[in-house]
Amino acid sequence: MDFNLTEEQIMIRDAARDFAQNELLPGVIERDEKQQFPAEQIKQMGELGFLGMMVDPKYGGSGLDTVSYVLAMEEISKVDASASVVMSVNNSLVCWGLETFGTEEQKQKYLVPLAKGEIIGAFCLSEPEAGSDATSQKTTAIDKGDHYLLNGTKNWITNGNNASVYLVIAQTDAEKGHKGINALIVEKNMEGFVVGPKENKLGIRGSDTHSLMFTDVKVPKENRIGEDGFGFKFAMKTLAGGRIGIASQALGIASGAYELALKYSKERKAFGKEISKHQAIAFKLADMATQIEAARHLCIKAAWDKDQHLNYDLSGAMAKLYAAEMAMQVTVEAVQIHGGYGFVKEYHVERLMRDAKITQIYEGTSEIQKIVISRAVLS
Ligand code: CAA
Ligand code: FAD
Repeated sequence: MDFNLTEEQIMIRDAARDFAQNELLPGVIERDEKQQFPAEQIKQMGELGFLGMMVDPKYGGSGLDTVSYVLAMEEISKVDASASVVMSVNNSLVCWGLETFGTEEQKQKYLVPLAKGEIIGAFCLSEPEAGSDATSQKTTAIDKGDHYLLNGTKNWITNGNNASVYLVIAQTDAEKGHKGINALIVEKNMEGFVVGPKENKLGIRGSDTHSLMFTDVKVPKENRIGEDGFGFKFAMKTLAGGRIGIASQALGIASGAYELALKYSKERKAFGKEISKHQAIAFKLADMATQIEAARHLCIKAAWDKDQHLNYDLSGAMAKLYAAEMAMQVTVEAVQIHGGYGFVKEYHVERLMRDAKITQIYEGTSEIQKIVISRAVLS
């Protein structure tokens, strides 16, 4: 068993670290406060190849493995989880879904600009009444011969306003249940498509989360992904990989907060010595370091499974469950180690704590990961 990273993986990790420190860190507090999308930084990430990391170079991607993606996601998330969710959605949901299941025409038309980061994409499954219970789709895509007529509302869509391409899951034949669901590629400028107001969020405030409304949107048949009725499986298979991305995001948020807490604990003095020399603080750091290392192993194992073409439904769900729960605990402790300074914005840890919360909710809540894991272990 080889735990060493390859030279290429180290290079990618270091490039992501440098980018995060030099380009994302300045302004991250202000973007969080103003709920400002990191447009310029996302453009740069596209140019550096971070938005189509695993896509074949023949489709404009970087052709890297999933382990490199995890390493890069961790580094970007240490500093700016709003930027990393854009990265995660574009890479593991939109690009992967199109590259794996799209037609050659769909790849040329949509995947190439998405992988190059010239445009970004969105993945639209959740609805006002269908979140965890994702088969209860109310959005309809009625077959009209050469096109589908799309009607309904999607909720909480990341990149909602900044995307140009939307992968929309909708019910074509309600009688067939989840086997009557399709995945359609919708362009922002299609008639009848309206982006709703931006959500005012607790965390990842720099990312843009919107509801989307579709009224009689005509989506050409050639924009369906896969066979008729493949939409729900498409969503599940795509989310299995997406969960590795969000697990790495949680890992990064936690390791960012830990690094800040470690540094602070060696500088801050109380009762005549650095607070790191008080065992209560030192033990917190020991727990945090151990939990982070465990999460990193789970993330890299799930990524390795994917790279080896093994099943990663279970390892990805375990990585996401553990990393998200861990991120919440570790960021709370990071604030605690900072004392009152942890409660104010310029020390970053309060933002990381707020950002950690979403990792327990999106791409399948922690409870949903337990459903996936328990079904696998009991089968
Ligand atoms: N791969 C392939 N097929 C799968 C699958 C997988 N990983 N998981 C389920 N399926 C298939 C099943 O085999 C079944 O098909 P068959 O009947 O042909 O066997 C079908 O899908 C339905 O599966 P279930 O019966 O297991 O469905 P369920 O109603 O019990 O729900 C669930 C399963 C795991 C809870 C699922 O609904 C789920 O994952 N919910 C969470 C939704 C979610 O993660 N949303 C995230 C939205 S995107 C997002 O959040 C992005 C972001 O924030 C940035
Ligand atoms: P519900 O499903 O109503 O769940 C409420 C609570 O009940 C949760 O604690 C849940 O775990 C629990 N629960 C539900 N069912 C069960 C069960 N069977 N057993 C035990 N507990 C259960 N969606 C997209 O499609 N695309 C996106 O880009 C996207 N981005 C998002 C960005 C943000 C900032 C947010 C907040 C959400 C985003 N989502 C996105 C939606 C997200 O995936 C859902 O919020 C999530 O899947 C949970 O669905 P829900 O909010 O409807 O909660």
